[in-house]
Amino acid sequence: MKLFVNGKEIEVPAAAMEKRIVEFLREDLDLTGAKNACDVGACGACTILVNDEPLKICIKRVKDFAGQHILTIEGLAASDGMLHPLQQAFVDCGAIQCGYCTPGMVLTAHAFLLKNPHPTREEIRRAIFQNLCRCTGYQQIIDAVERAALHYQREERSLQAASTSGKPAARRTSKGVMPAKVEAG
Ligand code: FES
Ligand code: FES
Repeated sequence: MKLFVNGKEIEVPAAAMEKRIVEFLREDLDLTGAKNACDVGACGACTILVNDEPLKICIKRVKDFAGQHILTIEGLAASDGMLHPLQQAFVDCGAIQCGYCTPGMVLTAHAFLLKNPHPTREEIRRAIFQNLCRCTGYQQIIDAVERAALHYQREERSLQAASTSGKPAARRTSKGVMPAKVEAG
């Protein structure tokens, strides 16, 4: 069985199929961003994106993800380690204290902003309500998501500009706006 994690194809050994995916990510792939906290699908600390949708994975098995595209927090930053603008906004707004909720919170906010780059504060609050934070009181998190929305708005404008310029269409992915592939010949 294969799945895709942060753009890389992963061949899953048969022995790992029944393993919980959060343990597979943490122990087999050394991707420790997704946390194993409540274990009952209640807190959101284990949230990852699956095909660009947030999913709490603590009660899911590896075999449930055959052929799926997973994005963990480790895949959001640039390959040179530079933080994604949403991550940077969390840092700048003081939205991280113990950090336990942060990977799941950031990924949930990322999926939300990809769909809604012009959110109200109330919409942000509703988008993250399944991700619990015991430290921040949520205001700084909402500030961070609101600030980062400017980045997603810029991406949206660049997509619109590309589509009206007659150039091959760029596309938006969970990693950001990707230029269109230029056909050879
Ligand atoms: S650890 Fe999965 S929801 Fe809490
Ligand atoms: S920063 Fe500690 S739980 Fe959110």
